[in-house]
Amino acid sequence: MNKFKNIIKSVKDQSRVKGITHRFYTYPAGFSPKFVSSAIENLTKKGDVVLDPFMGGGTSIVEGMRLGRRTVGIDLNYISFFVTKVKTTILSSKQKTFIEDWILTLDKKLKGKIASDKFTKTALGLINYQRLGKGQIYRLKQIISGCSFFLKRLKKVKNKNINDFLRLLILRSMQSTLHNKRPICEFETFKQKIKSNCFDMLDGMNELETNVQLNSNKKILSNSSIYNRSAAKCLINKNLKSKKTKLIITSPPYPGINVYYATWQIHGRRNTSLPYLILGMDRPANRSILNFQHPKNKNLKIYFKTMEKVFSSLYKASNKKTLLMQLVAFNKLDGILDQYLATMKKCGFKEIQLNGKKRIWRTVPSRSWQATHAKGKLSSSKEVLLLHKPNGKAVLN
Ligand SMILES: C[S@@+](CC[C@H](N)C(=O)[O-])C[C@H]1O[C@@H](n2cnc3c(N)ncnc32)[C@H](O)[C@@H]1O
Repeated sequence: MNKFKNIIKSVKDQSRVKGITHRFYTYPAGFSPKFVSSAIENLTKKGDVVLDPFMGGGTSIVEGMRLGRRTVGIDLNYISFFVTKVKTTILSSKQKTFIEDWILTLDKKLKGKIASDKFTKTALGLINYQRLGKGQIYRLKQIISGCSFFLKRLKKVKNKNINDFLRLLILRSMQSTLHNKRPICEFETFKQKIKSNCFDMLDGMNELETNVQLNSNKKILSNSSIYNRSAAKCLINKNLKSKKTKLIITSPPYPGINVYYATWQIHGRRNTSLPYLILGMDRPANRSILNFQHPKNKNLKIYFKTMEKVFSSLYKASNKKTLLMQLVAFNKLDGILDQYLATMKKCGFKEIQLNGKKRIWRTVPSRSWQATHAKGKLSSSKEVLLLHKPNGKAVLN
């Protein structure tokens, strides 16, 4: 039982996601790496299969890889897929040198001129910058033109892994200068961030590589398989199809809480799909797809229907010994947790009490989604830790 005590202790950890490749991108509603690593270390062995069906920023996938596990990560949001892919793709020394040289050479040529190319125009068209002060608009245009400057040159970088790494570096630098920033950063800050983020990411990549080498089981090498699809389709992975899953660790979209997984807020204005534009992808047409519900729709029917499909697939990917551990936040508690547990039961999962009859709750550290959507007072500022195992009696099949 000691192993559960360790996990319970770690679940209270409030520190922000950091270390190895975790800071490559700030994804909303992220796990604490301490909690994830404690669960993985205490509940699995090296070489075991660990699954996160709603991987988000990929915290559990990176931690699993660091600890020498075989990880499977799934997410419907292309941003999550892309970010996790880069975080878990180890680069060669030659590739890392190329990246550093590329950034340092282009940095000398980047002057802060305002461009009028297609990307700049489209990007500005996605942002509600009317009524911002002249100075702010100027900075915004300079930063977007700077982004366009790098993206144009990126087209010539043919190696996929290098190209993806550099694109994420640009994405991260744009996020850290524009998203939730008031006032909008100076152009010089963006220029600095490109360089400092580049060195920080290369260091993080080296640290991950050292850990993977140190922790890998000699017979089964740690690796990660990442999918951009619905968790309901997880059986595409052969280890899951053959029920090799040892641990499922996840935090699903929260019932009734609308977290903006795919957009940024620039100067507190309406959300913009700029990250998707930087990644060269179309933003999902259905705004509610990543939360399973329209923000204005209080009815959780679609949410529970979707969760039912997901849990049924997870059940099929499980064997008798598989454990499913999750952290879930709730908007209001009246009956929703019961409905959540009933859905899991219907799909064949049985709850294991970790702490006698009392469930473990944790306060969510101040995060933008919590501040925007729950004002820190409602129950969504609390998350519950749930542990389940398959009981072999799924009502659904
Ligand atoms: C609370 S976040 C997970 C955060 C993650 N634990 C981390 O550390 O970053 C939930 C994720 O579920 C994803 N999602 C929503 N619907 C999905 C579906 N049907 N299948 C897979 N992922 C989905 C969202 O895109 C979002 O990234």
